[in-house]
Amino acid sequence: MSLSVKHLLGIKDLLPSDIELILKTAAQFKEVLQRPIKKVPTLRDTSVVNLFFENSTRTRISFELAEKRLSADTINFAASSSSVSKGETLIDTAKNILSMKVDMVVMRHSASGAPHFLAQHINASIINAGDGINEHPTQALLDSFSIQERIGSLKGKKVALIGDIMHSRVALSNIYCLTKMGAEVVVCGPPTLIPKHIESLGVGVMYDIKEALKWCDVANVLRIQLERQNKPLFSSLREYAMYYGVNKQVLQSIDKEIVIMHPGPINRGVELSSDVADSKNAIILDQVENGVAVRMAALYLLAGKKDQML
Ligand code: CP
Repeated sequence: MSLSVKHLLGIKDLLPSDIELILKTAAQFKEVLQRPIKKVPTLRDTSVVNLFFENSTRTRISFELAEKRLSADTINFAASSSSVSKGETLIDTAKNILSMKVDMVVMRHSASGAPHFLAQHINASIINAGDGINEHPTQALLDSFSIQERIGSLKGKKVALIGDIMHSRVALSNIYCLTKMGAEVVVCGPPTLIPKHIESLGVGVMYDIKEALKWCDVANVLRIQLERQNKPLFSSLREYAMYYGVNKQVLQSIDKEIVIMHPGPINRGVELSSDVADSKNAIILDQVENGVAVRMAALYLLAGKKDQML
């Protein structure tokens, strides 16, 4: 079994069978990560560059650890300390790095479509680690993996994506991933943070958070992305927290146990209260843990080293 794509640019491009393969392979790598020796020689002759043009904590560390667990040679690139600050273009930067015989590129960029653009100019496989407000495919894959791990098959499960849907690449990748895997998806947030015509992607829309929480099995609470909002789209963070914040009080009022997720970083007290973020129903740190296995699976499958897995 192999993936139908050369790059992992977005979940939009994947077949359901690709998603199944990545999740199944991630489960095998998760087993590797429970061993006393967590390293396998799978990618020992592969070099991977992590090109991060935008800040990251979880994704950057998770990819680097996944590469090291697979015995790949890793090179880390941060735009702020590179020749990009002297005016070098994205393509020149990538071509110069790849001329040093680098096999794969993991890339985060603030511009939507940047990894797709790069994919047209280089031969190496590219994994999108988040591009602007477009997609964050490995986040959606680790989210789906974590849901499956907690409550079983995604088919027929009800997932509410809550908050800043408009500016969230996590939301778009989750919508593609969950609907391809047979889950039902609703988006919920203030009308100004819900894109027009989002129903065309096969999701429902709710504006009342209690209605969405009562409906769902899983609430994936998204960060308010103030850095991507050119003008204010709600009156204040206090008012947002009052109407759309997920806290103990609102969860008690729905009289039902649901799984709580958040991709991080959390604005504690805004989209999610600390008592909920740190509760037994929250799987936020499981998501982070699973990210390493999911990224090992993506790297392994794109590298095409079929015979050397474990
Ligand atoms: N979830 C996520 O992408 O977090 P980082 O921005 O810290 O990588």
